[in-house]
Amino acid sequence: MRRVYLDNNATTPVLPEVLDAMRPYYAEHFGNASSIHHHGQETRGAVERARESVATLLGCRPAEVVFTSGGTEADNLAIFGLVQSGDHVITSTIEHHAVLNSCKHLHEKGVEVTFLPVDGRGLVDPDDLRRALRPNTKLVTIMFANNETGVIQPVEEFGKICAEADVYFHSDAVQAASKIPIRVKEIGCDLLSISGHKFNAPQGVGALYVRKGTTLDPLFFGGSHERSRRAGTENVPGIVGLGKAAELAVKALANGEDTEMASLRDRLERAILGSVESAGVNGAGAPRVPNTTNIYFDYIEGEALVITLDLKGLAVSTGAACSSGAIEPSHVLTAMGLLPDRARASIRFSLGKQNTSGDVDFATQLLPASVERLRELSPLYNRKSPVPS
Ligand SMILES: Cc1ncc(COP(=O)(O)O)c(C=O)c1O
Repeated sequence: MRRVYLDNNATTPVLPEVLDAMRPYYAEHFGNASSIHHHGQETRGAVERARESVATLLGCRPAEVVFTSGGTEADNLAIFGLVQSGDHVITSTIEHHAVLNSCKHLHEKGVEVTFLPVDGRGLVDPDDLRRALRPNTKLVTIMFANNETGVIQPVEEFGKICAEADVYFHSDAVQAASKIPIRVKEIGCDLLSISGHKFNAPQGVGALYVRKGTTLDPLFFGGSHERSRRAGTENVPGIVGLGKAAELAVKALANGEDTEMASLRDRLERAILGSVESAGVNGAGAPRVPNTTNIYFDYIEGEALVITLDLKGLAVSTGAACSSGAIEPSHVLTAMGLLPDRARASIRFSLGKQNTSGDVDFATQLLPASVERLRELSPLYNRKSPVPS
């Protein structure tokens, strides 16, 4: 059975070049990067070369890159590393749970947190940020690109506002890295998170950019790894993989692969909207990363569509979460003003480097009949049809 994977915002396959770069660091070059002998120096060199590649991807100095176990840890280190009791934090209502639940936890511990709303396109208004600043605001944490809709926030404006107010600015760039260029100095952020598995490096490795001079309390206590900002023996193969993926991402962006990705995504979007009625793009009208589209198909349950498509070989996802047996509509889509039914009827398609135009054709051929079948079963949809007298 043919299988097409259009869920690259969940995770991506490790590229063959990345795997090749990592392989020697499992057995042949196995040293602990803290050891002073030959074996340690060999892996130390590899870790530092990877740091340079990540720094090139982000436009920062290698010394400003801290390796972590992924995006969640990078977000937690930025937030808990800075904020103390008595501080005020500003975030948005559409953050990934790595940021949202960290901020909620701080709030439960007595820290004041402001959750900024978004408009119908999923954008935070810079004026809302300006108005939310208080004398004790320590940190603003607003994501770069949303994982469900791909919507890109005006991070450079946020950076300026934070710099003027002398407030730290962190951005979760997990869904932006490799998809669009990131220059931390132009954004003016102090902290920025990335995660390897979202751009063809392995799961379980990521990095936090920490602007020179920013003092962070560590999350882990132990050795003085990562300049005492992240204790624990480095995940050398993972870090090497992250470095290689960063190097490849820099080349791909220079070759205009982001533009090619956007035209493939736009073709997918047009084909779906042209063949399925009562469907639309969530976040249309806002700038978006080139690989993502989030589409609502009114009168169906997104979960049911995901399962139907999976049975036919197409992997996509919903932003919905299942808690205590009930499917909760996505917090991102409801924050954008979607009614719960439409939010539950939404599906995310996210393309990756491995996808071809044939994959897009496969998806667009499957969708109309799958949606139609579910709508036939939907009491909501049937109510739309004329009732026989
Ligand atoms: C925007 C965003 N932030 C953070 C994370 C967490 O990253 P990780 O899976 O590396 O912990 C994700 C993963 O889905 C994400 O999409």
